[in-house]
Amino acid sequence: MHEHIQQRIQSIIQNVDQLPSLPEVVSRIINMVNDPDVSFKQVADEIAKDQAITANILKLCNSAYFSKGKEISSIDRAIVILGLKEVKDIVVLATTKSVLNRVILGYDLARGELWKHGVAVAMLAKKIANDCNHKTVADIAFTGGIIHDVGKTVLALFVQSTFKDILATVTEKNITFQEAEKQIMGFDHQQIGEQVTIKWKFPKVLQSIVRYHHEPTNAPDEHKRIVSIVHIANTLCLMAGIGIGSDGLYHELNQDAVTMLGLQDAQLEKFYSDIPELMNKAMDIL
Ligand SMILES: [Fe+2]
Ligand SMILES: [Fe+2]
Repeated sequence: MHEHIQQRIQSIIQNVDQLPSLPEVVSRIINMVNDPDVSFKQVADEIAKDQAITANILKLCNSAYFSKGKEISSIDRAIVILGLKEVKDIVVLATTKSVLNRVILGYDLARGELWKHGVAVAMLAKKIANDCNHKTVADIAFTGGIIHDVGKTVLALFVQSTFKDILATVTEKNITFQEAEKQIMGFDHQQIGEQVTIKWKFPKVLQSIVRYHHEPTNAPDEHKRIVSIVHIANTLCLMAGIGIGSDGLYHELNQDAVTMLGLQDAQLEKFYSDIPELMNKAMDIL
């Protein structure tokens, strides 16, 4: 029915130039942070090579959400005070904004909404990871949260022209929006997002988060937990109405993900009620 659209999406995937770009420094930093042989100094030097990014990063380091109360005026100092992983998250935040802070037509998201949604999911996913004894991956939950819906920036145009059919499929077959996306367009925003993260040379765990955030059960075993964290954060943020577009009402919370993390209803409610406070703290990073 929409074969021409399916073919166009296929050609976008094959011709990666059409997918969004990110400065190469981002994947270098992400990979350096995970390399035990790399020193603080090497990471700082790598970031400092790019002056525009450095200025943005320093601003973020001194924001209400990240600040530890001490003025940070250099990348070296940022790493000492905040730590490598936190600085890595800030690098991702500083560089992905231009990709995500757009009008996302097909999903009916005004400028800034997808960005706000990504930041909200990032903060909540990090909180869930910390509170559920998964502190060592809290930074990955944050990075994954920021970029999880990046595929929407590519698919939006096609969703716009197929929107009626997607919605009809949701109603007729009683499936989620993202499942209907896939049936009508041949791909959903998770699959396109995965291609974007491959182009960006992001590690496999981030690829899994983007690829399976609506279907954590299908994630590779070694990534199920972290994907579940981002899935739950995403669903709670949508329930709270953050970044809710045309697909907003058609998502559901995966029970396997909840069970895997051993979360009770009361804890889920607590995380949900934490969202406004997190958003308040994030005012100056949006
Ligand atoms: Fe999504
Ligand atoms: Fe999302």
